[in-house]
Amino acid sequence: MFAAEKPTGTAQEIYRELYLQAKGLFEGERDAIANAANLSALLHDSLATVNWAGFYFLKGNDLVLGPFQGRPACVRIPVGHGVCGAAAERRKSVIVPDVGKFPGHIACDTASRSEVVLPLLKAGRLLGVLDIDSPAINRFDDADCAGLERLAQLWIESSDLE
Ligand code: SME
Repeated sequence: MFAAEKPTGTAQEIYRELYLQAKGLFEGERDAIANAANLSALLHDSLATVNWAGFYFLKGNDLVLGPFQGRPACVRIPVGHGVCGAAAERRKSVIVPDVGKFPGHIACDTASRSEVVLPLLKAGRLLGVLDIDSPAINRFDDADCAGLERLAQLWIESSDLE
């Protein structure tokens, strides 16, 4: 179904390719969990230097672990805690170049050194967050953030969400 190699090129080229692949994966399927599982796998498999990619869904005031790829992770993160909770609270993407310098960072995999978290917003309603971790310092920049935000939006548009 996929080329085994990771897409190469500029960040824009890589995310354009991943957008097309995600579109293909979501085609004909509107189950949000199935699509989240495949998007996690696509990101984990295709992005260079990434050790964790996955979803947390907002349940009450907690972010609860959803589909992901990587090592087992903390299940429940209160809004406002950690990088995930900060992105949820601010409703803005958060890039952390060095997790060791982010007060309150929650270390699920001690190999993670940098991280980007995007809020999942549908018509202004917070559904959860998409979290990507890297074992490299300073792995994510604004181009990653923009590409990932488009992918997150595609998941929202392509899935039936309560
Ligand atoms: N590091 C995150 C927790 C989730 S794991 O990275 C998968 C945080 O500080 O919110």
